[in-house]
Amino acid sequence: MKKRLILIATILLLITGNISIAGEDSRQLVQLPKMMQQHMMSNMRDHLTAINEILIYLASDQLDQAAEVAESRLGMSSLESHGAEHMAGFMPEGMRKAGTNMHKAASRFALKAQEGDALPAYKSLSEVTSACVACHSGYRIQ
Ligand code: HEC
Repeated sequence: MKKRLILIATILLLITGNISIAGEDSRQLVQLPKMMQQHMMSNMRDHLTAINEILIYLASDQLDQAAEVAESRLGMSSLESHGAEHMAGFMPEGMRKAGTNMHKAASRFALKAQEGDALPAYKSLSEVTSACVACHSGYRIQ
């Protein structure tokens, strides 16, 4: 009887222990040199500003301007200005891929927006934001 109680108590401890582990931050820490960290965070803030500008343009039916912001600030054309190649060397494979996915999705969005139809453009934009979310849920730098 006593043994059984101990067993049950142990199982309960394990279960609640697991619950608290699941609630913890499971993102992988990627250590970057301080300067690069700041550079990346400033890129990130610009990414969000760009998404916001894109939404404002879409909402006012200025799809060409939305495409221009997406390609120049988030798309494949933005890689050089972001110093992406230099930073990629410090990132694990999965994070690099998540970054590439986001840039490609932004370039696809730009093409879609240029076709002039807002609804498919919104759908395509959600692939960009999904790529933001995918990386954010897997990695942190601090
Ligand atoms: C390749 C991975 C990756 C992609 C893609 C990515 N981010 Fe980030 N982002 C990060 C990481 C890592 C952080 C820092 C999180 C941490 O350490 O807690 C971050 C932080 C941020 C921050 C906080 C900046 C600050 O100063 O606090 C914003 C805003 C942000 N990202 C927006 C975006 C947006 C919008 C997109 C998509 C257009 C995006 N990010 C795509 C990895 C990514």
